[in-house]
Amino acid sequence: MNVTVSRKAHFNAAHRLYRKDWTDEKNSLIFGKCSNPNYHGHNYELIVSVTGEIDKETGYVIDIQFLKDIIKEEVEDAFDHKNLNVEVPEFKDLNPTAEHIAVVIYNKIKPKLKPNLHLEITLYETPRNFVSYSGK
Ligand code: NI
Repeated sequence: MNVTVSRKAHFNAAHRLYRKDWTDEKNSLIFGKCSNPNYHGHNYELIVSVTGEIDKETGYVIDIQFLKDIIKEEVEDAFDHKNLNVEVPEFKDLNPTAEHIAVVIYNKIKPKLKPNLHLEITLYETPRNFVSYSGK
């Protein structure tokens, strides 16, 4: 019997969609306003979902306090009020699209979980635009 446990979190961050190996003209053509050299911000909403068997002793799939602490350390403390391109090492050479941010978050959280737990990251860049990644 698999059950999914989810925790919501939030962070504000600035970014610029940009490839160093493209000209400014090509970046502007592909990424439009999102390539503004002066950066722009988003209120990111995050849903971290963990699926697995219910532990017979505790009745938990995962202790949600443990999950909350991991999200705080790996995501909120690392990304909140940061310029992702400039201040977050994972994006030094990786374009900080919502897709890539979701993959980076997955890769930071997954090693902290027991290997038999399935992880899914859902990241809202705006209330209407969101991406999901579950390691496939
Ligand atoms: Ni943006």
